Amino acid sequence: MKHITIAAAAWVVTLLTVTTLAQTPPRPATPPRPATPAKPVTPPKLPTPTTPSIPSKPDSPSKSAAATKSVNQGVYTAAQADRGATVFKSTCTACHDTARFTGPDFLGNWTGKPLHDLFDLVHTTMPEDNPGSLQPQQYADILAMFLRLNEYPVGSDELKGTPEAMKAINFDKRAK
Ligand code: HEC
Repeated sequence: MKHITIAAAAWVVTLLTVTTLAQTPPRPATPPRPATPAKPVTPPKLPTPTTPSIPSKPDSPSKSAAATKSVNQGVYTAAQADRGATVFKSTCTACHDTARFTGPDFLGNWTGKPLHDLFDLVHTTMPEDNPGSLQPQQYADILAMFLRLNEYPVGSDELKGTPEAMKAINFDKRAK
């Protein structure tokens, strides 16, 4: 009887062991993959500024350079616009049609800013094949022509081709 008991016990132990082993979950064949890193999100493109010139900083607290006049007040003369048209014809028409300097695209670029912004761009970058080759006053004359093209009022004083004079005038939208 004792032999049988031992044998039975051994059998129970074996059975238990087998059962326990059978219950351990099978190891996964392959280790879980590490999550693939998320693709870096490309930052949205910022709109490029349309004006190539750097906005002038109000570097002095005294507002001496602030615009005091508006192109709506008559800041050029008819004779000056005529002179500008002559210079434009000989120097600018190789690349530009006059229509290029009127209409919403052109005005959208420049209105709401000091007239100096446009003066500075034309003066320092145009004509593109020979920048700065004209006298400052000739650039001012061309600006007078641009103002007339856009139907800004004529005045009794000429537009002066100096940075001070240009900074004192704001290129406002045309008053209705
Ligand atoms: C050799 C070719 C060339 C000549 C000559 C030239 N330009 Fe330009 N101009 C360009 C190019 C190119 C651009 C940039 C593209 C554009 O705006 O049409 C430009 C842009 C401009 C702009 C900016 C327009 C805007 O809407 O912001 C002004 C203003 C301008 N030119 C004025 C002049 C004036 C005034 C003259 C004559 C003194 C002149 N250009 C002569 C090639 C020329």
